[in-house]
Amino acid sequence: MKSNIVILGTQWGDEGKGKIVDFLTRKFHYVVRYQGGNNAGHTLIVNNKKVVLHLIPSGILHDNIVCILGGGVVISPYGLMNEIKMLSELKISINNRLILSESCPLVLEYHVKMDIARELFLKNSSIGTTKKGIGPAYEDKIARRGLQIRDIYNDEILFKKLKNNINYYNSQFINYYKCSTVQYDRILKEILEFRDFIKNKIKDVPGLLQKLYKEKKKVIFEGAQGALLDLDHGTFPYVTSSNTTIGGVFTGSGANLKLVNHVIGVTKAYCTRVGSGPFPTEITGDLDSYLCMKGKEFGSTTGRRRRTGWLDLVLLSRVITLNSITSLCLTKLDVLDDLSEIKVCVAYKNMKNMNIIEDIFENINYSFLKPVYKILPGWKQSIRGITSFSDLPSPAQNYVYFIEKFFNHQVLIDIISTGPNRIDTIIKRDI
Ligand code: IMP
Repeated sequence: MKSNIVILGTQWGDEGKGKIVDFLTRKFHYVVRYQGGNNAGHTLIVNNKKVVLHLIPSGILHDNIVCILGGGVVISPYGLMNEIKMLSELKISINNRLILSESCPLVLEYHVKMDIARELFLKNSSIGTTKKGIGPAYEDKIARRGLQIRDIYNDEILFKKLKNNINYYNSQFINYYKCSTVQYDRILKEILEFRDFIKNKIKDVPGLLQKLYKEKKKVIFEGAQGALLDLDHGTFPYVTSSNTTIGGVFTGSGANLKLVNHVIGVTKAYCTRVGSGPFPTEITGDLDSYLCMKGKEFGSTTGRRRRTGWLDLVLLSRVITLNSITSLCLTKLDVLDDLSEIKVCVAYKNMKNMNIIEDIFENINYSFLKPVYKILPGWKQSIRGITSFSDLPSPAQNYVYFIEKFFNHQVLIDIISTGPNRIDTIIKRDI
């Protein structure tokens, strides 16, 4: 294993990154998150109890791991405090194992309220956000008015900024959205509780990462959401408000290029998307219901049913190039067990001029594009829990080989997940 890796989702999120981070964590010392907020979610089973983490990386379940939230992560004070309390009830201590950057922006009640108000206002053209206030919190960062963790330790700045921001939001709630307002005292109380709670956990994260580099510590950078939800490179405007692609690692943590040696793209064996927006290979009807039920495709943050579709190699190719992905990890292959045939999108046909498109780099208008599929035979038997590539039935092996061949063997599928448990994993090639 090369020393430091990035784990990135290559689709619209929910690719199963949490399991892969959890699987690889044994060999690392630190897990760093660099973007997103409590819009993300990993469901894990700890001592037979279901645990859903939204902000803290799943690495926290391993005693040897220290988790870092870089300055690109937007933090809901109550969201984080509740997660920490839940972990302590499970006897998982975060003492000296959770570090926050002082640059992290806060997600406060008015952000959540604004997110909900906007979605309601947009009606049929809503983004389908998680309603966690993520977009408005990032807007405040870009507008340079938002509160960062460092601000809350200076009363003068805290009171002034909070008052200004509340006035700014309340005027919109009253005049534009015609809804109720938020209360200064209530939000201040949340912030004051939070600042006591986290005061020993704040560090200069870019400085710390440099130190870890010198000490040759091994670090995983764990992405949230997926590359196609990237604010700049995703299916805009149906995206999240952070950079889920490789650039986010550097801006959102302060790591420099030397700190990253290897980028693993996590790809589900089919596709899903939650919320609105283009989804060229979307499946409807019975097959969609089958994939949704068998793959348990319901969001861990909002419980929403995910839309399902076939694997899209055209978009995956673009994501591999954009992110310098060096290795792929194919998840949920077992969900395809019962299918007699499996489609894979290998190109698009432009229905306006009938041209075949094999590469997409810009965020184009997908409504004119129809996927061109290659149909591969299914394996019609259970592969759940298989741990060796040679034990996979040959149609399943051929599915993997087909994808690798599509990418001219420039990027290989090195890890395959055949079930939800940590051990249900094939290491095809030791990276
Ligand atoms: P937001 O991030 O809550 O603003 O939502 C913007 C879009 O990103 C919506 O389509 C959400 O469903 C989607 N999204 C946000 N977080 C996740 C995630 O963790 N998994 C999948 N989709 C997500």
